[in-house]
Amino acid sequence: MEKLLEDILEKNKILTNKGKVADYIPALKKANPEDLGICIFDIDGHVYKIGDYNKKFTIQSISKVITLMIVLKDLGEEIVFNKVGVEGTNDDFDSLYKLDMPNVDKPANPMINAGAIVTTSLIKGGSSEEKFNKFLNFLKKITSNNNLVVNKEVYLSEKETGHKNRAMAYLMKSKGLLEGDVEEILDIYFKQCSIEVDCEDLGNIALTLAADGKNLKTGKEIVSKGIARTARTIMASSGMYNGSGNFAIDVGFPAKSGVGGGILGVVPNKMGIGVYSPALDLKGNPIAAIGVLKDLSKKLDLSIY
Ligand code: DON
Repeated sequence: MEKLLEDILEKNKILTNKGKVADYIPALKKANPEDLGICIFDIDGHVYKIGDYNKKFTIQSISKVITLMIVLKDLGEEIVFNKVGVEGTNDDFDSLYKLDMPNVDKPANPMINAGAIVTTSLIKGGSSEEKFNKFLNFLKKITSNNNLVVNKEVYLSEKETGHKNRAMAYLMKSKGLLEGDVEEILDIYFKQCSIEVDCEDLGNIALTLAADGKNLKTGKEIVSKGIARTARTIMASSGMYNGSGNFAIDVGFPAKSGVGGGILGVVPNKMGIGVYSPALDLKGNPIAAIGVLKDLSKKLDLSIY
């Protein structure tokens, strides 16, 4: 396995210069486009780490899976999926035009920005601080990492420049999809996206999802089997946005990407994978991390389809 990972890392390093680090959130420009790291936890307790596996990056859209699990736990599928759909879409992750179409009553799914802003608005709490802390505490629990913090520079950078997210949030407010103060909801969303993680944190989240919601070290249930299954299913259909179909063919297991460079990959009942490569493809997905997952899937026969 170690030799396999070395070969896969070396081969896919070349891909890093085919992508571009995200710059629409100015603070993300600082990432090193050549970074590539992998961390794998298998269900039997083995851990494999290589490359830049301990470099920190912001979780970004991978946080959308966390929010989804929190609100499913608190409210159940009926209430959540009444406000956000479960269908894939061929639109970009930050697209908003469909929200203003006559017969569209909710965002397509909780993985695109609009859908994630809706799920963030559903987090329960008496104040925005309480709601954010609920998110952070859940993330700490599922990563088994108590030291997670917000990268303030990235948070403020997105808060200042997130005009498109702001536009879609106000549009959704006008359609009755968001309850409460729009700026407050956006603030929680920007903050949740700006929490710093590494490949090991992603691997831990992925392993919990691979193990049907259980923390394998403590034996404790983090989410129910049903919620883990729903989260994996939505990741499989929408986790890589409008690249989800190709990803399903090439890799073949549920995953979620973030513009910070992370990908969380879940091989049910087998392993949890965290990969980091901040250079992105045209769809905003980490280009070398996808290459790594393709090779891993092929070599270890991991496709679930
Ligand atoms: O809202 C945004 O645009 C970012 N905070 C998150 C987007 C993202 O990670 C898309 N992923 N590939």
